[in-house]
Amino acid sequence: MTSAPATALKPISPVDLAAERAQLGPALEEAMLRVLRSGQYILGPEVEAFEKAFAAYCGVSERGVAVANGTDALVVALRAACVAPGDHVVTSPFTFFASAGAIAWMGATPRLADVELDTGLLDLEKAAAACDSKTTAILPVHLYGQMVDIKGFRALCDKRGISLVEDCAQSHGASRDGVNCGQLGDAAAFSFYPTKNLGACGEGGMVLSRHAKVVEKARRIREHGSPVRYTHSELGTNSRMQGLQGAALNCKLPHLNAWNARRAEIAARYDAALKGNAAVIPLTRRSNTVHAYHQYTVRIVGGVSRDTVLEKLKAQSIFAQVHYPSPVHLQEAAKPWGYGPGDFPNAERLAREVICLPVHPFLSNADADRVAESLLTASLG
Ligand SMILES: Cc1ncc(COP(=O)(O)O)c(C=O)c1O
Repeated sequence: MTSAPATALKPISPVDLAAERAQLGPALEEAMLRVLRSGQYILGPEVEAFEKAFAAYCGVSERGVAVANGTDALVVALRAACVAPGDHVVTSPFTFFASAGAIAWMGATPRLADVELDTGLLDLEKAAAACDSKTTAILPVHLYGQMVDIKGFRALCDKRGISLVEDCAQSHGASRDGVNCGQLGDAAAFSFYPTKNLGACGEGGMVLSRHAKVVEKARRIREHGSPVRYTHSELGTNSRMQGLQGAALNCKLPHLNAWNARRAEIAARYDAALKGNAAVIPLTRRSNTVHAYHQYTVRIVGGVSRDTVLEKLKAQSIFAQVHYPSPVHLQEAAKPWGYGPGDFPNAERLAREVICLPVHPFLSNADADRVAESLLTASLG
């Protein structure tokens, strides 16, 4: 007699783009078809409409500059905020590599400062201490959907007479102390990579600024430094958003607040389930903050290794992720910046301890409860 097969556990993934597509239904497909039939493949009315709508959503009066991806948005934002090759730019060692990589790619030098252990966010005092006579900008990252102390960073940059460039790739819809992400920086860079809180159906990015001059410069840099066709006043690149991505983003933007609200509900459920547990510590949410919960991140500190916990979750068909398993300064590509092990202890510790739990808007309460229960079991050994 053969035994009945064990019931397969339903996989729980970090994102569910199929569920998002199902919710948007024909509206998304019709928007994409409109662009196909119009032949406006590059920039065009859909992209312009999105540049206006997204800037308005963030509370920025100047129209945005839509670019090809979030990495280009960082490069264009830095250059538009007058950072030049050879300058120093202070940023975080605990972020996606692009934050620091974009600084180096445009010819400036990343100077790193450690993060706060309880939030993973760039530490204001350490960033101040990392500034030197060549520093022309600070580039804080609103990691996991939570904003840095943006008013503190603004005051620091004003005091030193340098630019503030925000990395908002993970923080669409976040705010802190009444300020939206992208509002206080001299320039801000967003990514619309498909897994972001607001994602395109491909690559996309945007530069926002409240300064008309910065916006004009960003628009020129996006098109080979060209204010008028075939006239090139400065060096730039080709980083124009595709019409198809503008159409997809216009279709999705009206849903962003509801999607972020659902992320916050799941986060509150995780908070309640994990409360008082010594082995799993959720990162701290600062007061006076609207967190966009791009990720819900915990530190595994009870003695069982983070990677063992990940494996145990995987065995339960729960696919949690690690953002990021290695800090920026220990990457091979970062060697020329002159850092080594031990330089940023909090970033290094977080890279060993963090796990990001599934927190997308289409996760059911039952699935969130299963994640929290399995996590607690796995981390208690
Ligand atoms: C913090 C951060 N900065 C920059 C980027 C780069 O964005 P993109 O992948 O659209 O180039 C990302 C995207 O993953 C990110 O998470």
